[in-house]
Amino acid sequence: MDIKKIAVVGGGTMGNGIAHVFAMKGFEVYLTEMTEELFKKAFNTISGNLDRQIKKQVITEDEKNKILSNITKVISIQNIPSDVQLVIEAIYENKEAKLNIFKQLEKQLNPDCIFASNTSSISITELSSVCRPDKFIGMHFMNPVPVMKLVEIIRGYSTSDETYEIIKGLTQKLDKEPVEVFDYPGFISNRILMPMINEAIFALMEGVASKEAIDSVMKLGMAHPMGPLTLADFIGLDVCLAIMDVLYNGYNDSKYRPCPLLKKMVAANKLGRKTGEGFYKY
Ligand SMILES: NC(=O)c1ccc[n+]([C@@H]2O[C@H](COP(=O)([O-])OP(=O)(O)OC[C@H]3O[C@@H](n4cnc5c(N)ncnc54)[C@H](O)[C@@H]3O)[C@@H](O)[C@H]2O)c1
Repeated sequence: MDIKKIAVVGGGTMGNGIAHVFAMKGFEVYLTEMTEELFKKAFNTISGNLDRQIKKQVITEDEKNKILSNITKVISIQNIPSDVQLVIEAIYENKEAKLNIFKQLEKQLNPDCIFASNTSSISITELSSVCRPDKFIGMHFMNPVPVMKLVEIIRGYSTSDETYEIIKGLTQKLDKEPVEVFDYPGFISNRILMPMINEAIFALMEGVASKEAIDSVMKLGMAHPMGPLTLADFIGLDVCLAIMDVLYNGYNDSKYRPCPLLKKMVAANKLGRKTGEGFYKY
């Protein structure tokens, strides 16, 4: 299948980035939000990010206008055209909400349309159970989408080889690197990243070192571009906790227990950059 027409559901941090990269490669993108205002916000973010690419001489003003013209506004998933060939869901990380989206789209979209989720941690197999399991796959883009090369491609229990090959090829067309992963809690990225961040928080809680010292060790000693506590603030502490809960419940293994300090900070609404304070103040 030669995919040309896609829908992206959710225009937040990830969704607007996903729409951006597909539109840049000439795909017809139906970007779907819940309200006019939210769509406008997503569209303006894409426009602003394209301006940055003009400044860096990656694209021209004319190309920017062409890219934006590839994006069509859709308010409410009921209005997604039935002949899109791929739908990528990027709404907030909540299993019930995602299942409701896929149940509705199953009724509405052509039977050959491939369904993908950008979930960070929810089981692809579980999400696929309410729609078309063989045509369902995880496309886990990284933040910020226009910059990061990796797309973790997650195969659910019933994802067909054909679906996998189509999505692998499509990812390469976006100039991104697909990496094949099977459906286990946290996939690969978050199964390795989150326990590292969680351990850094345990080290802070136990007074092994200051937050600055912990971040410096990982930055200067391991050549990480940012320390784990800075990264946790960037991702959002609520998101980190939700993913640790998925690992803990998914494997029933105490090695994934979320650090009590992480839980306390989430309870105090110190979620990182998005609330102005996490391990650091912004
Ligand atoms: N933020 C990250 O760094 C990151 C990285 C990789 C994967 N993810 C995953 O990507 C997904 C999206 O995360 P995000 O950070 O972009 O969230 P976000 O909260 O920034 O954006 C979610 C968007 O979805 C919209 N939305 C919610 N319900 C909708 C509906 N029914 N129809 C249309 N739009 C709807 C919201 O209005 C919002 O704009 C999550 O599953 C998350 O786990 C996030």
